[in-house]
Amino acid sequence: MALYSETVMDHFRNPRNVGVIENADGVGQVGNAKCGDIMKIYLKVEDETIKDVKFETFGCGSAIASSSMATEMIKGKTVDEALTLTNKAVAQALEGLPPHKMHCSVLAEEAIKAAVEDYRNRKTGMK
Ligand code: FES
Repeated sequence: MALYSETVMDHFRNPRNVGVIENADGVGQVGNAKCGDIMKIYLKVEDETIKDVKFETFGCGSAIASSSMATEMIKGKTVDEALTLTNKAVAQALEGLPPHKMHCSVLAEEAIKAAVEDYRNRKTGMK
């Protein structure tokens, strides 16, 4: 069996939502201490709904595929819904990741949570 599913390879070769959002409403950056990879997520939010989302990932192929899939999964959702996205759901949508690559999908979950937290902090004037 191939190590990576077709879906992983597709999102790795042709990642969706790559880039930066100028004047984003929330930005989250997380790093993986083990491998040193970094993921950054930008959110554009209107009426608590994620109108646009972009990512930059300085990391492995699984991290790129995970960010691509995760951004697709939260686009058009409310920020509350985005917070419920788990790395397991991302990996499942990718039709699985090898066990030693599951931690790469954790970055996507954490970066989204950090971006939503940043959005909420800005909204409440804490930043
Ligand atoms: Fe670092 Fe995948 S090996 S995120």
